[in-house]
Amino acid sequence: MDRPRITIFDTTLRDGEQSPGCSMNVQEKLRLAQQLDRLGVDVIEAGFPIASDGDFEAVQRISASVRRPIIAGLARACKGDIDRAWESLQGAARPRIHVFLATSDIHLKYKLRISREQCLEQACEAVRHAKSLCADVEFSPEDATRTEVSFLCQVVEAVIAAGATTVNIPDTVGYSMPEEYGQLIRTLREKVAGIEKVTISTHCHNDLGLAVANSLAGVQEGARQVECTINGIGERAGNASLEEIAMAMRVRRDRYPYETGIVSEQLYPSSQTLAEITRVPVQPNKAITGRNAFAHEAGIHQDGILKNPLTYEIMTPQSVGVPDSRLVLGKHSGRHALALRCEQLGHPFERRELDEVYRKFVVLADRIKKVQDCHLLELIQDVKTAAKKIPPAGAALPFARAAAAGSASESHLLSFPAPAPAPRVPVTLGEHHGEQEEYLWGV
Ligand code: KIV
Ligand code: ZN
Repeated sequence: MDRPRITIFDTTLRDGEQSPGCSMNVQEKLRLAQQLDRLGVDVIEAGFPIASDGDFEAVQRISASVRRPIIAGLARACKGDIDRAWESLQGAARPRIHVFLATSDIHLKYKLRISREQCLEQACEAVRHAKSLCADVEFSPEDATRTEVSFLCQVVEAVIAAGATTVNIPDTVGYSMPEEYGQLIRTLREKVAGIEKVTISTHCHNDLGLAVANSLAGVQEGARQVECTINGIGERAGNASLEEIAMAMRVRRDRYPYETGIVSEQLYPSSQTLAEITRVPVQPNKAITGRNAFAHEAGIHQDGILKNPLTYEIMTPQSVGVPDSRLVLGKHSGRHALALRCEQLGHPFERRELDEVYRKFVVLADRIKKVQDCHLLELIQDVKTAAKKIPPAGAALPFARAAAAGSASESHLLSFPAPAPAPRVPVTLGEHHGEQEEYLWGV
């Protein structure tokens, strides 16, 4: 059965670039655009050409070298902006002019200082002009979700008659709730004459953390284009995150039976490329692309993952381009994960042998957040040496001596258990029974 195709409109280079600290130069924009092409996005909004010469040049360069996706240039609803956008798109294989004009009373009154009638007229005139230059014209009524619905319907109907081929419904200030946003798309589909001839698009900001949920609600009500950004960057709290939209639709095909052209294995590389270019790191717990998105530290989780990844992973790291699921060794880790890492380091242990390693590991992990391989190797070495000779009472271990020497750096923290007696591991293997033992093995 054919699933409806959702157009992925990436605005990382325009709305995303507007977020603090995320500006990019022409070369960087070109590099990211090439990565977006590999990622399989359908539309790249390459910039706002009237805004600066750099933006103009970036749109020009991207148009000339990225040939598969549609390249869009943003313009306010006035001739100067539209002409500049069109000029920058001259070399594009598939150009689009994206015109926007605010429609909410708040914006009309305080920002634009025009009446609704003037707004309607300006929107139509701008779309007509853009259409005289380019067949593919998108119109966005800025602050659509705070626009009186009957006026919004009027504007949308008028711009479709004027030649718009995509109508985008921005939740500019991230104010909408999912059911409300979905309802708005439904109302437009029910009330606007000619709406079936155009693509309805979502453009949701994340001020209340609902950008992805709102976009998906819009899709469920018939929107067929989603505007989003890599890592969810964008004005203020950002835009809907591309990777979350794409993977929500893939992982939950049962609820979102749609197709996108996204090559999911390119999601992580795209996220990393953006972070590298902007030097804005991805938040560790960011869904899909954060460094913890596939990390498992809790013992029970690690145990489950090692037995079958389905226990705690709803998608494979490989499917989004993350090389491997990383088991982080920390104070919540269990024997199962520790045994595997020791084995990977070339030190396979029997369960009882591992107990000793584990006892020392727990003490160390309590002191440092993350036990690295180098720490573990030193610890293993110490256990092996100690096993060969029974040390005299109170003798310090090698790394304990380093600790006593007084450094506080993390590498010295591995020189943990000073003279203190090894703590008793609360649950030893001998105390396990049957299934309970198997369960606690991960703890
Ligand atoms: O958030 C917004 O309203 C926008 C428009 C320019 C589409 O970014
Ligand atoms: Zn926006």
